[in-house]
Amino acid sequence: MSVSREELIRAAATFGTPLYVYHAESITGQYHKLADAFAALDARFFYAAKALTNLSILKHIRSIGCSIDCSSINEVKLALHAGFAPDQILYTSNSVAFSEIQEAVTLGVSVTIDSLSNLEKFAIAYGGHYPVGVRIRPNIMAGGNTKISTGHAGSKFGIPIERVESLQQLVTTYGMQLRTLHIHTGSEISEASVFVRGVELLLELANIFPTVSVIDLGGGFKVPYRPNEKETDLVAIAQPVAKAFADFTHKTGRQLQVWFEPGKYLVAQAGYLLTTVTVIKPTDTICFVGVNSGLNHLIRPMFYEAYHNISNLTNSEGALHCYQVTGNICETDDFALAREIPEVREGDLLAFHNAGAYGFEMASSYNARVRPAEVLCINGQQQIIRRRESFDDLLTLQIMM
Ligand code: LLP
Repeated sequence: MSVSREELIRAAATFGTPLYVYHAESITGQYHKLADAFAALDARFFYAAKALTNLSILKHIRSIGCSIDCSSINEVKLALHAGFAPDQILYTSNSVAFSEIQEAVTLGVSVTIDSLSNLEKFAIAYGGHYPVGVRIRPNIMAGGNTKISTGHAGSKFGIPIERVESLQQLVTTYGMQLRTLHIHTGSEISEASVFVRGVELLLELANIFPTVSVIDLGGGFKVPYRPNEKETDLVAIAQPVAKAFADFTHKTGRQLQVWFEPGKYLVAQAGYLLTTVTVIKPTDTICFVGVNSGLNHLIRPMFYEAYHNISNLTNSEGALHCYQVTGNICETDDFALAREIPEVREGDLLAFHNAGAYGFEMASSYNARVRPAEVLCINGQQQIIRRRESFDDLLTLQIMM
């Protein structure tokens, strides 16, 4: 565990549960693993903010030298608020009104466009005056499950590779400064071959577009969720990617930068959701463990059938029993099925691991249950970085007729 059991128990005692706890040094460690693995390349890393946008997390990520990738204009504004400079911010749009892209240009950040329709509007508005990137749909199937696969032939994302001629026509007609070619094929990718195929395809395209100076390979580096899963072998990815870039430079004399947009890789393992066991309900077939949280706080198990390791913090040495861990939302709301956990008693503290990415960020106040507080462990200190919501927060935006 990146935060010790004792530290987690202390955080729960101080701030109450349900509670998200993050560990700054783990984020730093993951960032260095990436930077070291790709050291042979002229690489830049843009944290995919959509995984977790708490401002203190963004500030920490800025402080370690990482740039930031934003998927909405409000994420761009949060990044600016956290102190990122416009040239450290990448805005990757999809299905947005063109006005949002114009706002990003006004803020001076790098812009990636994912449709010919918006690219044409961009060409008409800015011609060759503002550098631009395009997201290509490479028709590559990759990622942990279909919901998080984004590069295949049925995906809404990107300009389909089969439309490259239209892209070329637009770029030439308007003298556009096409700076970046981008793909993001999915989340939870561990195979080097996916990145290698992507690079080959984009480098081939770079031959057609002489203004291109950046290849953006997106995020998607898998982290282990299950206890027996291996870490992604970054060197096995970096080596063939570096070779492809070196060969390209050798053939063309062009030096390209490579960008990555890691989300999960930076923050997933740094985060825990701490909950308290409210009810134990044995039945003839299943023993249910109910906790004071639910799919409103961590939707990944119900939405993606995602596996999150669960520790019983307050009975870690107990005998293993099989449980169905469920939430308190008025729906089928399982965190884990048939899971072996050290004996669970009412009042025990359960920690859901790998909850840093897309945990709090996808939380809601469904069933009028408030969202948890967030705490950052940094330099041995526990800092509250978002207070627990209250009933008053649920009322704030409502206007009663
Ligand atoms: N870049 C782009 C353009 C993306 O669309 C994404 C994720 C990333 C980078 C970061 O991917 P990562 O490194 O985190 O895998 N909520 C889902 C994941 C959705 C990912 C959406 N796009 C989950 O909890 O599994």
